[in-house]
Amino acid sequence: MTSDVLIIGGGAIGLSLSVELKLRGASVTLLCRDFQAASTQAAAGMLAPDAENIANEAMRLLCRRSRALYPEWTDKLEQLTGLNTGYWPCGILAPVYDALGITTHQSPYWLDQAAIHQYQSGLTPEVVGGWWYPEDGQVDNRALAHILWTAAQSLGVQLKDQVKVEAFLQQQGEVIGVRTNMGIIRAAHYVLATGAWSSELLPLPVRPRKGQMLRVGVPEFIPELPLTRVLFGDKIYIVPRRNRSIIIGATSEDVGFTPHNTPAGIQTLLQQAIRLYPQLQDYPIQEYWWGFRPATPDELPILGGSHCQNLTLATGHYRNGILLAPITAALIADLICHQKSDPILSNFHYSRFHSQSSTFTPMFTHPANFSQVSHSPSSPPAIEHQTNGRSTDSPLVIAGKTFQSRLMTGTGKYGSIPEMQQSILASGCQIVTVAVRRVQTQAPGHEGLAAALDWTKIWMLPNTAGCETAEEAIRVARLGREMAKLLGQEDNNFVKLEVIPDPKYLLPDPIGTLQAAEQLVKEGFAVLPYINADPMLAQRLEDVGCATVMPLASPIGSGQGLKTTANIQIIIENARIPVVVDAGIGSPSEAAQAMELGADALLINSAIALSQNPPAMAQAMNLATVAGRLAYLAGRMPLKTYASASSPLTGTITN
Ligand code: GLY
Repeated sequence: MTSDVLIIGGGAIGLSLSVELKLRGASVTLLCRDFQAASTQAAAGMLAPDAENIANEAMRLLCRRSRALYPEWTDKLEQLTGLNTGYWPCGILAPVYDALGITTHQSPYWLDQAAIHQYQSGLTPEVVGGWWYPEDGQVDNRALAHILWTAAQSLGVQLKDQVKVEAFLQQQGEVIGVRTNMGIIRAAHYVLATGAWSSELLPLPVRPRKGQMLRVGVPEFIPELPLTRVLFGDKIYIVPRRNRSIIIGATSEDVGFTPHNTPAGIQTLLQQAIRLYPQLQDYPIQEYWWGFRPATPDELPILGGSHCQNLTLATGHYRNGILLAPITAALIADLICHQKSDPILSNFHYSRFHSQSSTFTPMFTHPANFSQVSHSPSSPPAIEHQTNGRSTDSPLVIAGKTFQSRLMTGTGKYGSIPEMQQSILASGCQIVTVAVRRVQTQAPGHEGLAAALDWTKIWMLPNTAGCETAEEAIRVARLGREMAKLLGQEDNNFVKLEVIPDPKYLLPDPIGTLQAAEQLVKEGFAVLPYINADPMLAQRLEDVGCATVMPLASPIGSGQGLKTTANIQIIIENARIPVVVDAGIGSPSEAAQAMELGADALLINSAIALSQNPPAMAQAMNLATVAGRLAYLAGRMPLKTYASASSPLTGTITN
């Protein structure tokens, strides 16, 4: 039985949403790779929109709205389960060591030196004052996770732990299922709530930010709780629980998913904690652990729609996942159940990462005015006619990114860097493929590549040229992703996959390509595999989740034109992902012909770079690509065996 909604992720966000959706009458399945590994389990449970001193206004508002939901929300969960969440609006005290800190916070409640020591005994004498945030508080995050799981279970959410989602299966802008280690699971609507692990499934700029933590206990000889509010210092917080545990956190380390506590991490925490509240040095240590915050480049969550109409994103909550769980659940449930989008959500849409670097304005003005068209894979798309009579088209969409130009080019084989720059400009292309290996080894022509092109306008397509095996290609793809990030394309997970063991014809290895594609898709890459024009292979690559297929027209750099037309036609007919004809196109007429067949895009490098006048040829290729596309959309006249006069004969004088 398929559910209305399938949630991927068993942290606070996924679980809260499952409860909210269920309470609104939806049938819900939740898949969780490892309940214990979620950042939710690792957190301290601070509810600290004020103490965190959040600079972004929309985020501050979102956090405060969520904090305001906490009393009622935890009440409801406690009633559902009969368990205690440990919600405690205890306030947060932020002591400072020097007067400089005084100007940096916004709270109206400043306590001077005498007041803060009177208010909270046991602080180090170094404390010269502090801010008091009475509305902040805490929840016992581990208790909350357990309660959310219990509530979801009792409400009838299908909870599946230890299920690893490997890929989204997509067709024409829709998710049609997820591939998991337990087989394919389908639903009407999907939600990605996989936190720090999100980029393994979609090219989202969410990266892990490790936090190490530890817990001490109040010794038995101290009968009363010595701390009854959170202490929030510089790079340290101390969160006293009512059950006499005290959580101390947290480091913030950009080390990927490197596991374990480290001596340096724990030492820093202990030093800072003891400095702030010296008596902790004698408290028994109960536990150490670590977790991974889901960090985004702007440190704001990713909430709302995606490139697929039935996939919603709720991830990237960084330092505030526990705090934001109730508001995320409420807003996302409204969006899914009632298509009601709270205005605040517009601040957190994933497309903010694309606005500068991914949905480009073409550098060359197209002769046609393109807009929307419906595309059926087996027949040319129907053309809408605008009042000015021009035919209309939808832009090229690859892995959720939109491109106006359907011509991709490369950087190789040019006589000089200026010639390459002029040609790329004249081609109007928005995607340029770059050989990662050649950039790495500073091969001739690739030394100044980073500076030669404007990477805010050109989307980089790193390629694995020079790789003979799947393993090599996977390694180079990972380097390519780093290269794109270094050039400012944080969210660029594209890779043009080339696995080519044959040095003479440079023909790709189908088996190695499929193996590498499968692995790279799992790692969150948008994979654009270069293949021989083999329809079955194209199908298999689509099935494993590739973003496009790139069949060759004839061997790379040969300029032999379309030698594989019949097979390319079958690939186009079957594919539900864009088909990019790559390699072998030698002249604009061949480019136009490939587009007339219904190819979604072309990749042309040698035919431009090796022509007598590369910038002029680049422009010609651009025009040919546009012309071929227009012709495809227009639909050519039927072929006839016999001549048929251009001027009709009816009404003519016959004798
Ligand atoms: N919410 C505190 C932290 O992420 O360390």
